[in-house]
Amino acid sequence: MSIAVCPGSFDPITLGHLDLIRRARSMFDQVVVGVARNSTKRALLDPEERVALAREALVEVGLDAGVRVEQVPGLLVDFCRGVGAQAIVKGLRGGADFDAELPMALMNRHVGGIETVFVIGDPALAHIASSLVRDVARFGGPIDDLVPTGAREAVRAAVRRQGNDAGGERG
Ligand code: PNS
Repeated sequence: MSIAVCPGSFDPITLGHLDLIRRARSMFDQVVVGVARNSTKRALLDPEERVALAREALVEVGLDAGVRVEQVPGLLVDFCRGVGAQAIVKGLRGGADFDAELPMALMNRHVGGIETVFVIGDPALAHIASSLVRDVARFGGPIDDLVPTGAREAVRAAVRRQGNDAGGERG
């Protein structure tokens, strides 16, 4: 049984994430979507909500067979060991993603001995990033064709709660 972890902040899950998860599932028997904390980012949604939205989205697009969503409580490599994953799968939209992902892949191999598989996503979705979705939403722009149905109102509601202060972080 081959198992991969697709980790990320998923703040919120986007159509780009779903494209990546679908591609990962085509290569591995099981995919565990790991909703993790990125200490360099200020979150919009709390972790439980990010998990719930990801689960709902997988059902919405018919991707729930062989794919499950869990929260990553600490170090990603510990989570990968716990679920018995052979690999981490991450998506690349372009060179900037590679520059950001390379040190993480090397660190995860260094501390956990786990390999990272990079997958090129659909170029039609290459402009979609959770950080940009948050930014568009914060300033009242349309996000409906960037995120799955359930995430639309959740993001708008979170923005209303938090206000449109972007807080300085990117990604
Ligand atoms: O979607 P993101 O924010 O690019 O994903 C980054 C994430 C959450 C996968 C990364 O920050 C992470 O793995 N966090 C868990 C804690 C950890 O293991 N940190 C060391 C990473 S080398």
